[in-house]
Amino acid sequence: MTIEDATSGIDIASPTNGLSSQRPSISLSKSPSATYPRSPASKDASRWQRGNTAASAAKPLKPFATEDIKILLLENVNQTGRDILAAQGYQVDVLKTSLPEDELVKRIRDVHVIGIRSKTQLTARVLREAKNLIVIGCFCIGTNQVDTQYAAKHGIAVFNSPFSNSRSVAELVIAEVIALARQLGDRSNELHKGTWNKVSSGCWEIRGKTLGIIGYGHIGSQLSVLAEAMGMTVVFYDVVNLMALGTAKQVPTLETLLGAADFVTCHVPELPETHNMIGRLQFEQMKHGSYLINASRGSVIDIPALIDVMRSGKLVGAALDVYPAEPGGNGDYFTSDLNLWAEDLRSLKNIILTPHIGGSTEEAQSAIGIEVSEALVRYVNEGCTLGAVNMPEVNLRSLTMEEENHVRVIYIHHNVPGVLKKVNEILGDHNVDKQTTDSRGDVAYLMADISDVNASVIKDLYQSLEGLSSRIMTRVLY
Ligand SMILES: NC(=O)c1ccc[n+]([C@@H]2O[C@H](COP(=O)([O-])OP(=O)(O)OC[C@H]3O[C@@H](n4cnc5c(N)ncnc54)[C@H](O)[C@@H]3O)[C@@H](O)[C@H]2O)c1
Repeated sequence: MTIEDATSGIDIASPTNGLSSQRPSISLSKSPSATYPRSPASKDASRWQRGNTAASAAKPLKPFATEDIKILLLENVNQTGRDILAAQGYQVDVLKTSLPEDELVKRIRDVHVIGIRSKTQLTARVLREAKNLIVIGCFCIGTNQVDTQYAAKHGIAVFNSPFSNSRSVAELVIAEVIALARQLGDRSNELHKGTWNKVSSGCWEIRGKTLGIIGYGHIGSQLSVLAEAMGMTVVFYDVVNLMALGTAKQVPTLETLLGAADFVTCHVPELPETHNMIGRLQFEQMKHGSYLINASRGSVIDIPALIDVMRSGKLVGAALDVYPAEPGGNGDYFTSDLNLWAEDLRSLKNIILTPHIGGSTEEAQSAIGIEVSEALVRYVNEGCTLGAVNMPEVNLRSLTMEEENHVRVIYIHHNVPGVLKKVNEILGDHNVDKQTTDSRGDVAYLMADISDVNASVIKDLYQSLEGLSSRIMTRVLY
């Protein structure tokens, strides 16, 4: 760490951020993880700060020049996300594709933020090279492609967007309820092959039918509203007691739901408890002539049991969007090599098979771009970890423009005994206006807002915290 006292303030340049200590004294940092005098860039307050009155306007915390923040976006991240990051003044490099590991190792060295989708593998080997990286944005739902544990242990937060596509899934399910009730898939396939087969037997309106929703979370509850608008009666089963929307009713057991519903649809997470949650016993409990829809996770349904119950004629239709094994890319992969029963499933009547497209809409991609890039901006500028997948979720209310000499201290540390005592010995001589801390596994995240702090104090605080053996990363924002 090079420390350079300048007349205008302190300049602390971390050797890891690629800066030369020869550069002239300036008043701004080139790294969001180092401490520098106040940025004049306060004018570009973040989007969520708009609307505050002048008196209580939230104070942007950016002791760095926003144009020095380097961001690498891979895999054609949605334009909405690029625009938000560019509007901050950050340097944003955009690539349409992913990068192979060797190339990634080179490109990641000098960036502070990386944005990826599902194809880029951020392994421990890649992250080891990422000396300046403070945060990763996964512009997608899953984070399996990132070594999130390694990232957390090195103070790198990871954000994703788990719920931006809930509406898209709910709409697909409504479409499937109607398509199954009217055997649309079969009629369409027949006509594609030249066969005119006009039938009404076994085809139904959905008005007045009962939809049974298993899992009344983001998707299940959206679906509930849409289904009622279509004239359906809605019952739901959830492990948590939840406020029903509209006239939907929560039922006490899964068995009750299965016995009542004409259409059963699954919207639970993948957990040991939800593995094969709908199997032979549950199919026995379902109504004769009912339908099953699964757009949650492939492991939730016992598919060989589904094949048997459809062949028996008890279930008269099903729609599956997710499977225990799914291919990594598009192509002719949906065969018995992928899932042993694939050919049997494909041979069934009135079954809609879709390739995990529940959340795949332009709107969802756009919403993901906004959600993830806003989380990145909040983390870089304010240190807020709400929504992070690998760090404790910590936030403090914003500092206001009236609180001039306040700083925000962020101390990411190993979760070991005695750290708080040592940190508070360092902070203790100052007026700590507010402080919060939380831990997740081996990593703890402390955030404190301190008042009446001058430039030399900032330097001391930073250095003292950096000197603790528990330190993973220190940031001081003001
Ligand atoms: N097909 C797609 O493209 C697609 C897109 C988005 C999400 N999903 C999947 O949809 C599922 C639901 O997503 P969400 O965003 O609504 O999740 P969510 O976390 O908002 O809701 C899940 C609900 O399930 C309930 N639940 C958990 N365990 C349960 C159990 N054993 N029995 C009954 N209820 C239980 C929870 O209490 C919660 O209310 C997830 O598996 C998710 O991965 C699929």
